[in-house]
Amino acid sequence: MRNAIVITGTPGVGKTTVARELARADGYRLIELNSLAKEVGALAGQDPEVGAAIIDEAKLKREIARALKSEAAKFIVEGHYGEIVPPRFVERAVVIRLDPRILRERLIGRGYPQSKVDENVQAEILDSCLVSAVEAFGEGAVLEVDATGLDLRQLVMDVREAISGRGLTPGSVNWVTQLQKEGALLEFLR
Ligand SMILES: Nc1ncnc2c1ncn2[C@@H]1O[C@H](COP(=O)(O)OP(=O)(O)OP(=O)(O)O)[C@@H](O)[C@H]1O
Ligand SMILES: [Mg+2]
Repeated sequence: MRNAIVITGTPGVGKTTVARELARADGYRLIELNSLAKEVGALAGQDPEVGAAIIDEAKLKREIARALKSEAAKFIVEGHYGEIVPPRFVERAVVIRLDPRILRERLIGRGYPQSKVDENVQAEILDSCLVSAVEAFGEGAVLEVDATGLDLRQLVMDVREAISGRGLTPGSVNWVTQLQKEGALLEFLR
């Protein structure tokens, strides 16, 4: 019954790009959570403070379960709240990580307001999506992939490895230590 690979991570790390390529190259059925939420009317409004959509979680969970039961196919489910996927379907969760400095540039490039850039970069530094994935699916089902410095082809290869169970176990990526070592932590703590 476990027919889903979850790809999660902070907004901007490259989830959708990678998931589309894996679906195309390896024949997965793809569920993009943001698109599904829109399609099924599971957007419960807009949070004015963070400028992000509010998800009707119960409704979206039902729709994910319905989609995953609908076909005897293997699925990739991608989105930054991947922990919403009912765990009984989840074979593996892959958390894509990205150096906070690169993530910040990408999010600025998207035209996000400063507050939204800061919020997401801090979430990346604090392992927010990783923690959610481990809580939802258990440590043994979760692997990290560090996308820093990888082009799409290399990143797809690493995610494929992680799907097969080879890769970085939870806790391997540690931005706090790395930024500290490089004298770059303080600029993120405003
Ligand atoms: N390996 C990569 N190297 C360079 N740029 C990349 C790479 N992967 C993705 N990008 C670029 O980064 C941006 C964000 O990618 P993408 O939309 O896939 O992220 P996401 O994790 O799905 O974000 P969101 O959670 O907001 O949907 C895009 O402009 C994409 O082209
Ligand atoms: Mg996306």
